[in-house]
Amino acid sequence: MPINKSDKIWFNGEFVPWDEAQIHVMSHALHYGSSVFEGIRAYNTVSGPAVWLLDGHLKRLFDSAKIYRMEIPYSFDEIKEAILETIRVNKHEACYIRPIVFRGYGEIGVDPRGCPVDVVIATIEWGRYLGPEAIEQGVDVCTSSWRRMAPATFPALAKSGANYANSQLIKLEALENGYVEGIALDVAGYVSEGSGENLFIVRDGTLITPPETWAYPPRSRPFPANFSTSLTRSFSPAPRQRSRPSAPLTG
Ligand SMILES: Cc1ncc(COP(=O)(O)O)c(C=O)c1O
Repeated sequence: MPINKSDKIWFNGEFVPWDEAQIHVMSHALHYGSSVFEGIRAYNTVSGPAVWLLDGHLKRLFDSAKIYRMEIPYSFDEIKEAILETIRVNKHEACYIRPIVFRGYGEIGVDPRGCPVDVVIATIEWGRYLGPEAIEQGVDVCTSSWRRMAPATFPALAKSGANYANSQLIKLEALENGYVEGIALDVAGYVSEGSGENLFIVRDGTLITPPETWAYPPRSRPFPANFSTSLTRSFSPAPRQRSRPSAPLTG
């Protein structure tokens, strides 16, 4: 998906022009995956752009940072205000918001303590994650041969850049085999999540999703069942799923 540039990026407390938001090639995060981030949507409403579950996403960002012992040098409210200001500065009607906290340039080696914790907020215009027709027509998905990591290897509770090495393997395998997305099972063989989405099923009018230890705690949980398909990255009814998980759906 090509990136639609916005005017400005919030970079450690300052707005900088998009092309000037750069980091050093020896930054810790680039070598060791030491970043945590969020993906948040602002939707166009009659009263202007409205951010979907901002507090919930920010809580997860702060929790992710805590798990990786990264001290975010801004308060919850400062990051929240910075996100809203970035949307205003870039004059979005609707957008995708990507706050990222990462270990920057300082020292070499796995020990990250000598590296600064940098914070960036980028906003971009980004349509539907799995393509414009995905919601109406559904997409072809497969069950991946890659499993999600066990909670004692990488904590799935933390939305860390490192987790996305696993997501990339799932996605690349699915694309290579002609699918749009792959669904990963957890280490025990239960359904976990897509490479970049939560999974929900509706059973007897109730939304069911795998437990948090195996998948990201979905920020999308608190909304009513009939609200789900319009606002989440839903697969919709998958028209073709050739390899089905042998394990039951968890919930
Ligand atoms: C692997 C993965 N699972 C789940 C999600 C859904 O996240 P959210 O809880 O913000 O809807 C995402 C979104 O980026 C993801 O990448």
